[in-house]
Amino acid sequence: MQKLDDIIATYQHQSGPLLPILHEVQAVYGHISEEAIRTVANGLNLSRAEVHGVVSFYHDFKTAPESYTVVKLCRAEACQARGVARLEQVAADADGVVIETVYCLGLCAVGPAAMMAGGEVHARLTPESFAALLQAEAAR
Ligand code: FES
Repeated sequence: MQKLDDIIATYQHQSGPLLPILHEVQAVYGHISEEAIRTVANGLNLSRAEVHGVVSFYHDFKTAPESYTVVKLCRAEACQARGVARLEQVAADADGVVIETVYCLGLCAVGPAAMMAGGEVHARLTPESFAALLQAEAAR
């Protein structure tokens, strides 16, 4: 857990360190384990319940490793207006990838937009470009 201690040390003196630490823990380990919750709580002088409450509140934090790849497709109004419906069949046909709906990735003017499992976002998606992204994601 040396890496976890390093993560805590990096952020613990910043204002509001809990969320950046949890994001980094998830980025490094793929999820936030009970042991990580305990270590983060100790490092920030918080109760385990406080840290667990934050982890469970935010849908993007995972407490167990996922056995599948999740791609987030924006289905909010601006992306709907920019043609996300054209991507629906591609999403339905995706093998090895789970499509999760999100409501805005901050790319409204250049939608439709999606976020890959690694966190990179893509805009101006077409059925062809989205299919290629999903294929690459499934091959990881
Ligand atoms: S509505 Fe899709 S990125 Fe904002």
